[in-house]
Amino acid sequence: MTTCAVFAPARVNLIGEHTDYSGGLVLPVAVDLGMTVAGWLDEGAIRLRSLAFSEPVELDCNGAPRGPLAGWGRYVAAVAQLLDEHGRPPVGFDGTISSTVPIGAGLSSSAALTVSVGLALCRVADFELPPLGLARIAQAAEHLAVGVPCGLMDPATSLLSRRGHALLLDCGSEEHRFVPLPPGLAIVVLDSGVRHELEHSGYADRRAELERCIAAIGGRNPASLTVAQAEAEAEAAGVDDVAARRLRHVVSENERVRKCVAALEQPGGPDLKALGALFRESHESLRSDFEVSTPELDRLVDLAYESGAIAARMTGGGFGGSIVALAEAGRAPSLVAAVTTGYAASVDREATGYICASVDGAGDVEPGSVED
Ligand code: GLA
Repeated sequence: MTTCAVFAPARVNLIGEHTDYSGGLVLPVAVDLGMTVAGWLDEGAIRLRSLAFSEPVELDCNGAPRGPLAGWGRYVAAVAQLLDEHGRPPVGFDGTISSTVPIGAGLSSSAALTVSVGLALCRVADFELPPLGLARIAQAAEHLAVGVPCGLMDPATSLLSRRGHALLLDCGSEEHRFVPLPPGLAIVVLDSGVRHELEHSGYADRRAELERCIAAIGGRNPASLTVAQAEAEAEAAGVDDVAARRLRHVVSENERVRKCVAALEQPGGPDLKALGALFRESHESLRSDFEVSTPELDRLVDLAYESGAIAARMTGGGFGGSIVALAEAGRAPSLVAAVTTGYAASVDREATGYICASVDGAGDVEPGSVED
């Protein structure tokens, strides 16, 4: 019996938000929350079960659904169909998926799902794809399954990452390299409890507004412009205020990614003060220029800084979800306690804190370590 077990991590984006789909820069980290798929070769069909998701999924070996699909089944079918189109032999699979990623919390649970399923289907069929090839399939699967025009960041992070490092990815050229994270720095995620579903949020509208502005300025890549140039070009092209603000966010965010990398790699040690200021500016730009934050995320960011975080900002697509805060490792538990207490007192909701470790990208795990 062919057995396989793979784990695909979730991503926490440190900085570079809403820059990926216009060929910009991102600086995410893969973390120790994710999805595990374990199973064996099945002659007749692709079958997946889960405790986390209700309906089991059953597909033909080429990914064709055997019945109506809802929710997670649409992602599984889309991955299987796209892999089939890319030459995966039509080999069946009987497996189980288990998850430690909060769904809809802005930590790319959908990429953890598409990447883990995609990798398991490749393994069981002895079919190899380069990591970025599988990342593009996972990205396309999300478009196909739910119509969300997401970028490459989430599946690329889940596949390419390296423990102890952030991934600096240029989503235009797809060049990437690893930026060491300062030792002793904790990555803290605080989930606002406001669920975001990019399928029903303004994500596609934001992308369309940005693309309208990019088209008006002759298709220039925002990553090649300074803020002053972008403002001048948008004005000369007579672009409306909303589209011009969307462009300003993306241009300034690309600059902040470069500055964050420089701060992390500063000779003589990381410049944590600069990181704090850049994360603040990023959040403010996402709130006012890109308009994807929520009052709950704003509150969490303020509470994190008040409670001693080195840096804090919303992370992921927005419209709900989570913030990321960086803190000295020893202070992370008290940061979580202070922020969740302050949040409950000021917003009628509970926030959940996760102190995350950075991990390697998706790969094999011991079948015995899988639970469901
Ligand atoms: C979601 C998308 C990503 C990216 C972020 C915002 O997570 O899936 O491609 O656009 O939002 O940075």
